[in-house]
Formats: sequence, structure tokens, C-alpha cells
Amino acid sequence: ILADLRLQCAAPLPVLRRVADAMAADMRAGLAADGAGELKMIPSHVYSLPTGNETGLFYALDLGGTNFRVLRVQLGGKDKRVVDTEFEQVSIPKEIMRGTTEELFDFIAMGLSRFVATESDKFHLPQGRKREIGFTFSFPVKQTSIDSGILIKWTKGFAVSGTAGKDVVACLNAAMERQGLDMRVSALVNDTVGTLAGAHYWDDDTMVAVILGTGTNACYIEQTETIPKLQHLVLGTRNTIINTEWGAFSDGLPLTEFDREMDGESINPGEQIFEKTISGMYLGEIVRRVLVKMAQVSDLFGHSFPKKLAEPFVLRTPHLCAMQQDNSDNLGEVESILNDIIGASQASLEARKTVIQVSDSIIRRGGRLAGAGIAGILEKMENESKGQIFGRRTVVAMDGGLYENYPQYREYMKEAVVELLGPEQSKHIAIEHTKDGSGIGAALLAAANSKYAAQF
Ligand code: BG6
Ligand code: GLC
Repeated sequence: ILADLRLQCAAPLPVLRRVADAMAADMRAGLAADGAGELKMIPSHVYSLPTGNETGLFYALDLGGTNFRVLRVQLGGKDKRVVDTEFEQVSIPKEIMRGTTEELFDFIAMGLSRFVATESDKFHLPQGRKREIGFTFSFPVKQTSIDSGILIKWTKGFAVSGTAGKDVVACLNAAMERQGLDMRVSALVNDTVGTLAGAHYWDDDTMVAVILGTGTNACYIEQTETIPKLQHLVLGTRNTIINTEWGAFSDGLPLTEFDREMDGESINPGEQIFEKTISGMYLGEIVRRVLVKMAQVSDLFGHSFPKKLAEPFVLRTPHLCAMQQDNSDNLGEVESILNDIIGASQASLEARKTVIQVSDSIIRRGGRLAGAGIAGILEKMENESKGQIFGRRTVVAMDGGLYENYPQYREYMKEAVVELLGPEQSKHIAIEHTKDGSGIGAALLAAANSKYAAQF
């Protein structure tokens, strides 16, 4: 089973090349017309990035990662000063992720309301102004303007009823009204877009942002003249940010029976295949499925099948990560995780090694495919703006728990980028972590699009 798995999951250079090329081709199709390719290529309606002159008090909401976060940011203007930031985070209860639209947005508005109540006098809001919010909403949204957008579908295990097809800012406004909160959403952004804005604020060589966390996605700065589907608009700006929604990509991916079964039993079968192959929500589950098969046909974990192993999603990507960091001879950490998490009390040293090898195959494939996606985006950008990507320093801003916490995944991803681009081109590419960038980024975009901007 392990040998077969390795064969099916292998992502050698020719496979990576095919994926990178298909990603670039799909990007072009999605820019030409909605629905023409797997990638939605959603225009963000961000036409100018924060300049560093933004000032004032702004709030940010961040929904869609492991945690729901609320932030308060005081911007000092001029020399890009973020004077102060405070935040609180809570995890979203399972029943809210599968409840009604009202329940979800009431949960958000209540969290915001509690947080606003803690605002101290050191934060200054000029008389007569509403508090403004940058809303990071990390799901596919068809933006109708910088401060409105319609949810296309839920991803990443969210299955809230009645939201798809609705303007999520209107949903939030209604919930804030129910809470008696008088605030204004000035920018609605995807987490990738928030990350790009936040990273670009500190380093204007930033051209691409990628999230590798619970889910995955990428956005980048595109020239408006190369977006056929926007040509009916008179934009008057040279660039905008495009949210690729690359999680929906599937062309040419090396998939296994375990991926297909997981997809078939998911709440969104046939959708988000790239996301299901490379992102944190799913990697542990794929490994669990491989181990189930192994335990059924062999005595991998002793004579009896460990009961807990049968439970979907019990083995999580952070467990794989913790096991892969175990460098001891007897793999003691692996032993205790297998015991605690899947109830395998008799995992021999051989079995522990096998678990690591299975994990590594899945992690390696994920990291390498993520790298192929990044290379595909960079190559597409370079193609249309000769020398603007590989002829100078270009930063790819990264965020998300998987990237941040899983060193092997990170290395596999970087290796794939270098293999694909070659040493000459890749030496211009800086892949950099922007921690929690999308919260500050959303606040910055709220400031840049403030209703009161003219008064600055
Ligand atoms: C955070 C960003 O740092 O990373 C979020 O601020 C993003 O907007 C998140 O969704 C992804 O992280 P994870 O790993 O929790 O999905
Ligand atoms: C999912 C969402 C996407 C988001 C990504 C990372 O793919 O559809 O909008 O950016 O997860 O959080």
C-alpha cells in the first residue's frame, strides 16, 4: 500500500510543470469570462493599495481560518506607523458553522460588540464618525464593490444555510443592527487580498499572497488591461488585485483512491480539489484513510483495529506535523500521538516508521503542488509584463497555519518553486511569511477606502 501510495502521490518535475502550466492557462480563462475555467479569478475592487498615509482608528473582522478574530488598529499615517493594535480571537463552534445565516452573523456581531466595549480612551475617534471595519471574509465572494459582495458558496467545512447568493456585508449590517452596533464596513476582502495589502504596506515588492492554512488560495496584482472581463468598465487604473480562488483547481493533479473517497464523502463533493489535496483541513484525513486501509489488511497496529482510527478527521494535520518533528530513535512522540489520537496502543517501531512515511508522502505532494501553483502564477505574470517579475525582486507573501507551522511542507513547497523556475529566475523570488497580515491588511484597506478619507 505504501509503495502504491508513493507512486500515485509522486509529484516529479513533469507533473509539477503540467500543473503550473494548467494553473496559468486556467487563470487566463477565468480572466476572460466568468465560468470559463475552474478558477473564478475574482476582481477584488481594490484599485489602490494603502500608501502609508492612512490615519485613524479602524476595526477588522477576520472570519474563515481556524479562529474568528476581531482587531482594533490605530494608524498613525506618514511613516507607515501602526501605532497600536489589539485583538481577540475565538474558535467558531461547530454548530455555528452548520447553523443559520442569522446565527453566524449574530455570533460575529456579538464578538465585535464585546470587543468594541473594551475600547480605551487612548484610541481616538473624531466626533461624528462611525467606527469603520475592514471585513476579511475568507470564502469565494463575488465582489460587487469594495464594500459589498455575494457569497458564491461555502468552503472548508462551513455549511451555513441561506447565505449563498446573499451580500455578506448586508448580513453583517443586519446583525450589527440587532446588536445595536452602529459601525460601517468600508472594505470587504478575501484573506489573500488582506494579506497582500498588509504585506505590500511594509514591502512594495509584494506582488502575490498565498494562504496555506485550513484552506488555500492565492491572489496577485494584475494589470487591468489584461483582464478581458473588466474591459466594459472604464477603470482609469493600471492595476488591481485578483483573487484566484485556486482551491477549485483540479487539472492534472496526481490523486489517489484515498483522495477520491474523501472527496466523495465530503459536504462539497467534486469541489475544491486542489484545496483538498494541499491544505491543512484535509491532509491529516487523507493519511487517516491510508492508515485505515493498512490496518484492515495487515496487523500494522497489532491484532485489533484501533477503534478511534475509524472516526473521520480524528487525525489532524498538526498531529502529522508533531509526529514528523520526532527525531528520536524510538519515535516516542509518534507512539504517544498514535496512542492518544487513534487509540493504537501497540504501534511497533516499524508501524511508527510507516506512519511517518505515509504522512511524508502526503505532505510532500501537498507542498510540491502548492509550489507548482505559485510558479504558475509567477510565470503567468512574467509572461505579460516581461522582466517585471523575474527581472527584479518579487515578494510572495505567505500566511496560514500550515505554512507557518509545518517546516517540511514549507521546504517541499520552496523546493518545487526552485525546480520549476530554475536558479536564475528563482533567485529574484522572496517567499516570506506575513504573520496575521490579513487583519491589519483589512484595516488598512478600510482606511484607504474610508468614507471620511476626503477629510484627512
Ligand atoms: C490568518 C489570516 O493569519 O491566516 C486569516 O489573518 C487567514 O485571514 C488565516 O484566514 C488562515 O489560517 P488558518 O491556518 O487558521 O486557516
Ligand atoms: C478557501 C476559500 C478562500 C480562502 C481560502 C484560504 O479556499 O474559498 O476564499 O481564501 O480558503 O482561507
